[in-house]
Amino acid sequence: MPLLRTTRSLRATRTTVLAGLLLAGTAFVPMASATATPLYQNARASVSDRVTDLMARMTLDDKVGQMTQGERGSATPAQAAAARLGSILSGGGSTPTPNTPQAWADMIDAYQRAATSTGLGIPIIYGSDSVHGHNNAYGATIFPHNIGLGAANDPALVRQIGAVTARETAATGVKWAFAPCLCVARDDRWGRTYESFGEVPANPVANSVVIEGLQGSSLAAPASVLATAKHFIGDGGTTGGVDQGNTQISLDELRKIHLPPFQAAIAHGVGSVMISFNSWNGVKDHGNKFLITDLLKGELHFSGFVVSDWNGIDQIDGQPGFTAAEVKQAVNAGIDMVMVPNDYAKFVSTLKAEVLNGHVPMSRIDDANRRILTKKFELGLFEHPYTDRSLQQDFGSAAHHALARQAARESQVLLKNDGVLPLAKADNRIFVAGKNANDMGNQAGGWTLTWQGQSGERVIPGTTILDGIKAGAGKGTVVTYDRAGGGINSSYKVAVAVVGETPYAEGQGDRPGGVVLDAEDVALIGKLKASGVPLVVVTVSGRPLDISAQLPSIRGLVAAWLPGSEGAGVADVLYGDYNPTGKLSFTWPKSASQQPINAGDGKQGLFPYGYGLSYGRRH
Ligand code: GLC
Repeated sequence: MPLLRTTRSLRATRTTVLAGLLLAGTAFVPMASATATPLYQNARASVSDRVTDLMARMTLDDKVGQMTQGERGSATPAQAAAARLGSILSGGGSTPTPNTPQAWADMIDAYQRAATSTGLGIPIIYGSDSVHGHNNAYGATIFPHNIGLGAANDPALVRQIGAVTARETAATGVKWAFAPCLCVARDDRWGRTYESFGEVPANPVANSVVIEGLQGSSLAAPASVLATAKHFIGDGGTTGGVDQGNTQISLDELRKIHLPPFQAAIAHGVGSVMISFNSWNGVKDHGNKFLITDLLKGELHFSGFVVSDWNGIDQIDGQPGFTAAEVKQAVNAGIDMVMVPNDYAKFVSTLKAEVLNGHVPMSRIDDANRRILTKKFELGLFEHPYTDRSLQQDFGSAAHHALARQAARESQVLLKNDGVLPLAKADNRIFVAGKNANDMGNQAGGWTLTWQGQSGERVIPGTTILDGIKAGAGKGTVVTYDRAGGGINSSYKVAVAVVGETPYAEGQGDRPGGVVLDAEDVALIGKLKASGVPLVVVTVSGRPLDISAQLPSIRGLVAAWLPGSEGAGVADVLYGDYNPTGKLSFTWPKSASQQPINAGDGKQGLFPYGYGLSYGRRH
């Protein structure tokens, strides 16, 4: 019967075709009519079914490409599509010109247009570090860095910050934020201390709720982005606080101190985890299968995908660049996507070769692809690969800045006050000084527009601390500013010195000798002290500073941390418009010689973990 024969011969034909296709290394597409929509393109199908259908159509080239992340500066849209790259990132400060939301969206949409024009049309996922707002993008609302949010101790606020950060990030086409950092910084000499919510796991655990703000109630929502719990694991526990150093602790200590934030992140549904540069007892995390596969994916049941850090796999053998052995070890350890970020062509060919020679099993490749593609489907990238530009209408809005100001208020920690604070608003004569009083760049810190951040009065929109003091001054009050204290005299009723650090990021912020006030700050405090005018000191810094020598001269002391766009929030506390509620999430040392010093270790710091004053009994 024609139909039967036809069916039988069709099946025979299919077998021959299948054999031919597999030999040719081309994916076999299940026999469907030429016009039927492939299942993976059917938004009504389950994500699991869509992933299965898509993977059945993918070649090894497609799958290896999905596991590869290139930096925008190394791959044009056409090159990224030709290599089937699964992701593109902006490293710190890697931005379009001009650095506007529109230009970001145009750039990312160009990558998506190229990617979705390929055979299978798999969209990329674009990642960027939105660690305190969408900090690579000019005009984004910049929130206090995590050290200040840890002091604020207000997870509900942090969740809101996550939501606004996600909205402004997604507005530019970026659907993957490399945040939050959930490190537990145990030694303040570490350059990334300010990226930590606190020195004990309780602080990052409580604030990991930021993930729910970033990812929203549904990853598919236009204003949601994929969050990243980083850096797994032990980045804040290295000996001496050396960035990317060696964390020499027992498994019990690792579980007690550094694991809880990741357990919390997974409970919040975090979609990705970034591996840490550090070693654990001499073995680089990026090559550690026990940590990545057995602990994170096995014991913690992490079902999202794991991404390496920047050139992280290159460090496994301690030599520059990456080798086939390192690619094999990192992927077999459980890394699903490799942030190459530049030599992506070499990575793709190396990983493909390691699969074809049997060193990396296809099951590992398929597991990685399933994890990555599951998040892409959940994000809705197949249905909506392009930027939702309607989100740009409240990019950097007054409402977002109001949230940043509230966060700045709540992150202030009042450490000393003999009654000099709060400042009288009316009929006062306030002398303001210091390098950090009128500098948006310094109060924002690292990871702001550029990787390392930069000093500068108006590098980003917002209010400086001096702006806030001037705006808050009432009738009959004079505010004078001179960075070096020139002009101070006894006619002033109070002097406010805003001192501390200038921006840095990662290892460039390591201070093996500890952090004392620099010569400029010491001289300023000495000058103001000599004038006899009551002295208030505000520290703008990424960590506690050694101010023991100056403390006797100081009548009021406020730790402002890195408050971000709204320095006016600091002034709100100085004037008492906000009664300080901040509590130290880091023990404040007497001197660097005490490092590491942490709650519960029996050492007596200058101010203990959890310390923070308020004004009078109004609070
Ligand atoms: C950096 C950081 C990491 C960041 C990544 C991409 O080296 O370690 O936190 O997400 O590179 O910028």
